[in-house]
Amino acid sequence: MLITVQDINHSFLIGRKGKESNVPVLKNISFSVKQGEIVSIVGRSGSGKSTLLHILAGFLKPDSGEIVVKDTVTSVFNEQQSAQFRLENYGFIFQNFQLMPGLTAFENVELPLKLKGMNRHQRKDKVQQLMKHVGLQSVQDHYPNELSGGQQQRVSIARALITDPPIIFADEPTGSLDSETEQEVLELIQTLNDTRDITFVIITHDDEVAQRADRMYRMHDGILTEEGVPNAV
Ligand SMILES: Nc1ncnc2c1ncn2[C@@H]1O[C@H](COP(=O)(O)OP(=O)(O)OP(=O)(O)O)[C@@H](O)[C@H]1O
Ligand SMILES: [Mg+2]
Repeated sequence: MLITVQDINHSFLIGRKGKESNVPVLKNISFSVKQGEIVSIVGRSGSGKSTLLHILAGFLKPDSGEIVVKDTVTSVFNEQQSAQFRLENYGFIFQNFQLMPGLTAFENVELPLKLKGMNRHQRKDKVQQLMKHVGLQSVQDHYPNELSGGQQQRVSIARALITDPPIIFADEPTGSLDSETEQEVLELIQTLNDTRDITFVIITHDDEVAQRADRMYRMHDGILTEEGVPNAV
């Protein structure tokens, strides 16, 4: 197993000081993801999907439970260890793209390599190759506000992939796109999964998107259960 999640519980303290109450948001969550799978987590707004993703990626510590990724127990990491593990293993895709407005498409994709200290020449080759792969060559010098939503999401996918992480977490990756563009982005994810063997965990409120995955889990009020998908092999 690439990712194994065992009995995760998490609550948030909410309300005014002195009158706080503890609201359980994740209840005994267990699931697993195999190398090379696309796994979706579908559920209504407020069901706990993003909270689970934040815990998986180490942004948030669970109250209890264990997460094992690539035979490493990540749920015991401190902040610095989590950050380092993320840098090496995870890419992220968000609903609102989160591109840097002052950088071109090319520069947005290049940024993670700069942060890793790769030299200019190597960066240029790598970014150009990937931009070609995701169909962004012709718009590489555009700024984010000069790109369509679908193009912006492809830039953010390329940025997530540029450091070759084995795992991509996507939180509502098609939530801001029209249905045609949504199909294009889902096809790109499928292609990247096929050609680069990247594992995807996709969070969505949309059953149709969720059913495009190899396996699908449903989150309902903090409880996660696996469901069959129509195209399962
Ligand atoms: N930092 C926080 N403090 C307190 N409560 C929180 C916090 N973050 C999330 N919650 C609560 O936890 C629950 C789950 O939130 P979460 O963001 O995980 O839902 P979601 O399934 O991602 O919803 P959406 O589809 O709208 O993004 C909600 O009831 C939310 O109000
Ligand atoms: Mg969410």
